[in-house]
Amino acid sequence: MSKTPHDLCQAVQGTILSTPSLDLRWLTLADAPALQAICESKQVAAMSGSIAHPYPEGKAEKFIREYAPKIEEGDAFVFGIFERSSGDLIGDTMLGINKRFISGEFGYIIAEEHWGKGYATETLGAVLAFGFDTIGLRRISGTCSVHNDASARVMETNGMVRDGHTKDSYLKWGVWEDEYHYGLTRPEYELRKAQRAVV
Ligand SMILES: CC(C)(COP(=O)(O)OP(=O)(O)OC[C@H]1O[C@@H](n2cnc3c(N)ncnc32)[C@H](O)[C@@H]1OP(=O)(O)O)[C@@H](O)C(=O)NCCC(=O)NCCS
Repeated sequence: MSKTPHDLCQAVQGTILSTPSLDLRWLTLADAPALQAICESKQVAAMSGSIAHPYPEGKAEKFIREYAPKIEEGDAFVFGIFERSSGDLIGDTMLGINKRFISGEFGYIIAEEHWGKGYATETLGAVLAFGFDTIGLRRISGTCSVHNDASARVMETNGMVRDGHTKDSYLKWGVWEDEYHYGLTRPEYELRKAQRAVV
């Protein structure tokens, strides 16, 4: 992170991250209805620590509005996940930035009807490349409920290492949930990239 956060934000404004099946681009207010529909799914909310169910009307629009200044300040990057074949919004992903420690923490959701197509795995690969190669982060982390086998698998497939377990991390629908913590450092990411290049 040799550039200032402001410079970086200007440099990456409008960035589109591409994977084999997806384009990840900045969310706009026009995306709010589709995002609202994704977040209204009880199955999506069930494994998320932050999505309420029922999901309040207008919440997706509020989320997009509230994150605009954070993106502007370089405190977070929020991408809509678009299926290239249909052009549909099928999820979103956020990379929150800790400027002091040059680290990032991501989250993601994929619409229930698109689960199991490899989209979260592709998304995380693109977010890791963005965080390490474009922004120059030192470390990227993520968490998931200990019951979220799909999310744990997505992180492990992308080379992330489970490095923690927090008991009673958050209260979900009246039940205290434990969380697994996953992390990847820049040297680990670089090593993995080099190893994959020679295979
Ligand atoms: C977690 C989530 C993002 C995964 O999205 P996805 O696009 O279906 O994930 P992918 O298809 O890329 O990969 C899922 C992997 O988990 C595996 N998986 C799925 N369900 C599983 C289960 N119940 N047990 C074990 N593995 C499972 C799949 O087989 C696949 O592994 P593979 O690549 O080895 O075949 C999606 O389920 C989701 O949005 N859930 C609700 C919100 C959420 O949990 N967000 C993350 C919070 S940490």
